[in-house]
Amino acid sequence: MNPYYITTPIYYVNARPHLGHAYSTVVADVLNRFHRMCGQETYFLTGTDEHGDKVVRAAKEEGLSPLVYVDQISELFRNLWPELDIEYDYFIRTTSHAHAKVVEEVLQKIYDAGDIYFSEYEGAYCFGCERFYTERELVDGRCPDHKTIPEVIKESNYFFRMSRYQDWLVEHIETFPDFVRPERYRNEVLAFLREPLVDLCISRPKTRLQWGITLPFDNQYVTYVWFDALLNYISALGYPDGEPFKKFWPTVQHLIAKDILKPHAIYWPIMLKAAGIPLYRNLNVHGYWNVDAAKMSKSIGNVVDPLELKKIYGSDAFRYFLMREMVFGLDSNFSEEAFIHRFNSDLANDLGNLFSRSLTMVHKYFKGIVPQKEAGTESDIDFGLRADAEKAAQDYRKAMEDLAFNKALMAIWEFINHINKYIDVTAPWELAKRKSQQRQLQTVLYNVLEGLRVISGLIYPIMPQASRVMQEHLGLKSAETFQKMEDLSVWGKTKPGIKLPKRLTLFPRIEQGRAQSANQEIAEPKEVRLMRMKPDITMEIFQKIDLRVATVLHAEAVPRSKKLLKLKVDVGEVHTIVAGIAENYEVEDLIGKQVVIVANLKPTKLMGILSQGMVLTAGDKGNCRLVTVDGPSDPGTPLT
Ligand code: MSP
Repeated sequence: MNPYYITTPIYYVNARPHLGHAYSTVVADVLNRFHRMCGQETYFLTGTDEHGDKVVRAAKEEGLSPLVYVDQISELFRNLWPELDIEYDYFIRTTSHAHAKVVEEVLQKIYDAGDIYFSEYEGAYCFGCERFYTERELVDGRCPDHKTIPEVIKESNYFFRMSRYQDWLVEHIETFPDFVRPERYRNEVLAFLREPLVDLCISRPKTRLQWGITLPFDNQYVTYVWFDALLNYISALGYPDGEPFKKFWPTVQHLIAKDILKPHAIYWPIMLKAAGIPLYRNLNVHGYWNVDAAKMSKSIGNVVDPLELKKIYGSDAFRYFLMREMVFGLDSNFSEEAFIHRFNSDLANDLGNLFSRSLTMVHKYFKGIVPQKEAGTESDIDFGLRADAEKAAQDYRKAMEDLAFNKALMAIWEFINHINKYIDVTAPWELAKRKSQQRQLQTVLYNVLEGLRVISGLIYPIMPQASRVMQEHLGLKSAETFQKMEDLSVWGKTKPGIKLPKRLTLFPRIEQGRAQSANQEIAEPKEVRLMRMKPDITMEIFQKIDLRVATVLHAEAVPRSKKLLKLKVDVGEVHTIVAGIAENYEVEDLIGKQVVIVANLKPTKLMGILSQGMVLTAGDKGNCRLVTVDGPSDPGTPLT
């Protein structure tokens, strides 16, 4: 069976990760898990793009050196992915030594082959895009992306002879119709290639930019950031001699959004061709997420933080929403209302209720033991359920292979509805009333559990946590087996006689933006909460939080606020801290109290007061108690 290699774009470290980055990376993870389920050996690459002007400027704004800055932001990306249950195989950074070596090697190869030449160039340069624009590309003399008037720059640079490969590329795209997919993006590339291709400037003089990889044939220049970045896809595999490169490169699937179509569909294949490296298999291009119908942007203030959503709704629900809502290739709109609506209707109602009601019946009628299916009753009361399961698995597989994730989920949900109807029609509660129908009851509930087994496997790539929890509660011991596509198309794998664990609510309904359990009778929110509290921060991260003992020197109410108090605390030095404890503590009770604070939190303004830290409390709102120490301690004593 063919191996499978999936890549995401490597993200610029000039901004924090947001919904758009999360989408591409979740898609890659879903595909990776799905192909593993199909029995393929897989490799999943993501990482960060750390060179170029943009990064230097962002670092400057933060008052940091590029080196320190890229470490910080790259870590934000790296730390986010496990929160979203993204299991990549390798995280590449373009500032790594191994990557730079590959860039130098490929540059030298193309230079030696005569496809890189030195020339003087004068043109309109956009600093935002880090590239020259031709007159034709500008809109009313302005950069189409940044809407700024580019500066005219004259400099000598190295150029990559892309023009030489134009006809070859057109022919390749025409011969392999799915080289770039979906078709709308292939058409876009072909339309672009109808105009003469301009050679690509692949260097930046060090007088203008030092933050990059030095050209191996001229140390006065660094490599253009795109030429450097694209090569990550092979450097990560240990090009040219690494085993992973030999095994995985020929199967590569790139995943990007439409914003970076041109570098991937034009520069990259030509670079590979010029360097004598086989081309990638497919370029898979998705659309853009807009937020509340507007483009996500810092200035509008509508940038969606995936971590926030995960914290409130859980990683499974976040992944489900992204996969269900967007049609791959088209733009989509994000809104929290739509998110909550999908959560409640698809996850809490359809899937969650089916799961709860089924297990409730197994516990009620069979003391939680998986019943034996009775021969002879099976065909009478199958009602096509088995055929539906096979169809669901087939439709799902086809949709996943076509990147139609919404359709794959629709296939699962159609089957969920069938099981729900099956229960309504067979009415196990009626069967349970008569001893003579005991055998039918057994068969019905066995079939329902079997249907749930298939569902628990099919949802695995999209919702790995819910899949695992379902499988545990269905008594399926070896998660491995039940996440194999081949097992999901076979009916009858559930083993009778197994005692099932206690029921739980898979997705507690969301009321007003907070997760709450809908059905008190069967809810076990504790377990659900634990499921979300994955132990995944390292000691290194934890140690960055500077927890100190502080003595309260002074406290006063914050005008116009019911909840906030302004405290002055002694933590070795005096800090002002605004704390939301006014409803629980009187000002006079606080003076002299020793509390615990986070001392290195970035200062932030609350009600116009600069707060230099955070006081730790247990609980919030109605029942909030200050965390204290068990005996007098010197102010500023660190907690270890
Ligand atoms: N560093 C380059 C990519 C180099 S790859 C060799 C880059 N970085 S980026 O940080 O700007 O990331 C762009 C990618 O982020 C998009 O192609 C897409 O994968 C993701 N997205 C960023 N915003 C997005 C949306 N609003 N919607 C969907 N995905 C988006 O370009």
